[in-house]
Amino acid sequence: MIILDEKNRVFTLHTHGTTYQMKADRHDVLVHTYYGPRVSGGDLSYLIQYADRGFSPNPSGAGRDRTYSLDTTPQEYSTCGVGDFRLPSLELELEDGSLLCDLRYTGHRLEKGKYSLPGLPAFFGGEEWETLAVTLSDAAAQVEVELLYGVLAERDLITRAARITNRGSRKLRLRQAASLCLDFHGGDRDHDLITFNGCHAMERCLDRSPLRPGIQSVGSVRGTSSHHHNPFVILCEKDAGEDHGLCIGAALLYSGNFQAAAERTQLENDRLTLGIHPFHFCWTLAPGEAFVTPEAAMVCSTRGFGEMSRQFHRAIREHLLRDPLAGRRHPVLINNWEATEFDFTADKLVEIAGAAAKLGIELFVMDDGWFGKRDDDYSSLGDWQVDQRKLPGGLTALVPRIRELGMQFGIWVEPEMVSQDSDLYRQHPDWALGAPGRSQTLGRSQLVLDFSRREVREHVYGELKKVLDSADIRYVKWDMNRSLTDVWSAALPPERQGEVYHRYVLGLYDMLEQLHRDYPNILIEGCSGGGGRFDAGMLYYTPQIWCSDNTDAIDRLRIQYGTSFCYPVATMGAHVSAVPNAQTGRTTPMETRGVVAMSGTFGYEMDLNKCTAAETDTAASQVAEYKKLWRLIGEGDYYRLTDPWRDGPFTAWEQVSPDRREALVSVVTHAARATPPFLALRLAGLDPDLRYRVEGREGSWPGDLLMNGGWPMPMPVGDYQAFQLHLYAE
Ligand code: GLA
Repeated sequence: MIILDEKNRVFTLHTHGTTYQMKADRHDVLVHTYYGPRVSGGDLSYLIQYADRGFSPNPSGAGRDRTYSLDTTPQEYSTCGVGDFRLPSLELELEDGSLLCDLRYTGHRLEKGKYSLPGLPAFFGGEEWETLAVTLSDAAAQVEVELLYGVLAERDLITRAARITNRGSRKLRLRQAASLCLDFHGGDRDHDLITFNGCHAMERCLDRSPLRPGIQSVGSVRGTSSHHHNPFVILCEKDAGEDHGLCIGAALLYSGNFQAAAERTQLENDRLTLGIHPFHFCWTLAPGEAFVTPEAAMVCSTRGFGEMSRQFHRAIREHLLRDPLAGRRHPVLINNWEATEFDFTADKLVEIAGAAAKLGIELFVMDDGWFGKRDDDYSSLGDWQVDQRKLPGGLTALVPRIRELGMQFGIWVEPEMVSQDSDLYRQHPDWALGAPGRSQTLGRSQLVLDFSRREVREHVYGELKKVLDSADIRYVKWDMNRSLTDVWSAALPPERQGEVYHRYVLGLYDMLEQLHRDYPNILIEGCSGGGGRFDAGMLYYTPQIWCSDNTDAIDRLRIQYGTSFCYPVATMGAHVSAVPNAQTGRTTPMETRGVVAMSGTFGYEMDLNKCTAAETDTAASQVAEYKKLWRLIGEGDYYRLTDPWRDGPFTAWEQVSPDRREALVSVVTHAARATPPFLALRLAGLDPDLRYRVEGREGSWPGDLLMNGGWPMPMPVGDYQAFQLHLYAE
């Protein structure tokens, strides 16, 4: 619910559990007054303290009042060069070379429903949303900034974006434009910053650090959101944990360069900004033109990380994913990549699919290596024609053979890339990103196509369309296997080269949107060397994303744990693969690999013909189990019961149905040890007043007992054992 106090110019955004407030103050500065647990409202600006602080300058309008300074006042969207020395939200470069920006309130507008951002991913929905737009202006620059707020009360979610319009008659340049700025004041909260970091094949490892004086930031300048840092961060109170304490999660719906920065200031008041990374960003706005920042989304939880995550999960599932199979089960899939890599024939693929079909697996995905002359990763990207040596008769011959097995067919593509050894590159070398007079840097021996250019996108899309129209294809894995370098576009003038990174992302979104429009029934899985572009922006176009190239069940505990802080289980691509694991060399039981992959978009990535009879039986029962429990797993409320980085000898998590009558608890023990201690696992999210049965056991137990007394852990025999408890109310 949005409350406007027109007289005092106070704007209050209430969600079910939280309140967010800003106010246009006596100098027309839009100050941030409050974000936290829901309060009754009123004008909360009494919380802001004013005092003369040395070297904190005063705007001319303050006259002789030295207590008023932009340097010490909490801002809603911070400015630059006129007295606030903290992290800026907006940096403008005018034709005269000045780099200043001073924003004052000029108006507001309230609407039912949710604003949209054409060309950009955004949360969507109907009457359950409200929109507030607050307009600020820089009179000297003749720039107008419209701050957009979407409120989804039930999910405690507030979205934000800024539309920056050049209202003057001269060109200007944006050097920085954040999506979100969040100021804290009063110094009453000692914050920790939580970020999700890693590398290829070990993504989204959680780091929690206290804020120190100065700026701490994570971000990406790789052109994608990256394996290395995720565009989702949390600011929380020192003592916040899974089920207690105040925390604020902030996600950027963006898949390119981003920066999340937190600053502890001189007065120990913290500021968080989130948006496109200023690195190599410079956007020209001609008179009348507007720039729209990507959307950011915040959830504030007063009951710890678990509740924050569950609110994000629900909001993402209900208002961000555009899933052709919404409300229905995604097919259990088998992918041939780890089984064959590039070395396959049609018969080999049919053999792999055949073994899978017998176990109830429903979708066969043909991965990399089917096009051009791609026998390794040195060639053929860009040549999206079937390799007749491997697949005689092309997809027209192969797909019916898969369909005969009762399976659907899916295909891998990497549309943003080109190999130097390809017909496409030989014809259009200038279509790859690269600056004049320099030889480009290679990544996985490939170059990046300039997706900021319409003609490049149109060509690639045309080629993809031919493939998709040539056979009955139900699934596409859209991959992207390198970081951007040599970012220079032959299609843009010198003064616009600072736009290429962002135009690349807009081009990508444009093409994904077209794909979504033309093929509304095709399920698209995102991928970037595993989870190198796992962000809320991509989820708008690809409702599932391959979580990591690391399929080792034990490493996956940590990767999926980190991923779960913002993103729902139903979006995480997770497969059972062969052992010893290709990435770590570790051997884990088939059961364990199944338990871990089941908390994701379940599938297999191996040649099941090579399994023992016992493993085949296990796989068959896993598939059956997943088909039975998919709704609970995918749509249930997710509880992290342990922290795989810190807590004891096992990792556990739980899904609980929305009516709390059913739950699935999954436990994976770490390496075995002699004389293990007696341990119990406390469950969560159950109804304390209901009694629960546990599948396969005699008896029943009250919910309050299971949550407080717990469930005794079996003694593991051997490394990396796993088990599940399926609970249902009597
Ligand atoms: C990336 C993907 C893998 C696989 C290979 C194919 O690494 O993450 O799943 O598709 O590319 O080259």
